[in-house]
Amino acid sequence: MRTPLLAANWKMYKTAEDAAAFVRDFLPRVAGLSGIEIALCPPFTALTTVAHEVRGSGIAVGAQDMFWEEAGAYTGEISPGMLVAAGCRYVIIGHSERRQYFGETDETVNRKVLAALRRGLRPIVCVGESLSQREAGTTEEVVKSQVKAALAGVRPEAACEIVIAYEPIWAIGTGRNATGVEANRVIGLIRRQIAELYPANPEVPAQLRIQYGGSVKPENIVEFMSQPEIDGGLVGGASLDPAGFATLCRLSAEAASRRVRERA
Ligand code: PGA
Repeated sequence: MRTPLLAANWKMYKTAEDAAAFVRDFLPRVAGLSGIEIALCPPFTALTTVAHEVRGSGIAVGAQDMFWEEAGAYTGEISPGMLVAAGCRYVIIGHSERRQYFGETDETVNRKVLAALRRGLRPIVCVGESLSQREAGTTEEVVKSQVKAALAGVRPEAACEIVIAYEPIWAIGTGRNATGVEANRVIGLIRRQIAELYPANPEVPAQLRIQYGGSVKPENIVEFMSQPEIDGGLVGGASLDPAGFATLCRLSAEAASRRVRERA
């Protein structure tokens, strides 16, 4: 049984002080929720603060990017080991904003995935089609080639630790989300592709979590969480407010427990 992951991608918002205030407000609101995992992914400068504030709560911390080398003359970069030392369990890799504005490619995404796994960090690998790719009918092809490239050279034991976030680019920050059925279809396809990539290891597609991302909010989270293939969400804008994100997490936990009951 896969535990759904609700991950907050704060992007370039919140100072360390803002982040601490968020966590103090957020923690009591989600205390006692079960059946889901929550991760907060603040900017680098707030990682240690958030890790300190969430200690003992079961909430995980993630970074939004990293470099693949462990140390060296790479001005401005952050290494996997530094993220581990800052208290991270997760790291978002290959977000479409990094692919679009910072030259991230399928190849750099793969190098980062391998480097994260070597250090025991769990990558949240983002894939998704643009609006023009969707309109050209190439969604499946695009997403499959991104997944295949990201997982190149990943051993089956490590692959089970990966989280994939299916984020159609046209749905990010636009208020225009995919429907639950649509997202479930593409995510099902990704899972079948992973089964093909690891033909001798059925545990990989069974365990690897695949989230939906793109304009997820309290009003639509249940639609996604009710789908059998969707293992949670990567949430941008709607994760910045502690009360709103707590509502989203609570609704997710309720939907997850309904899912478990239905399967039993
Ligand atoms: P959004 O962003 O929820 O604001 O659409 C999601 C993301 O970019 O991960």
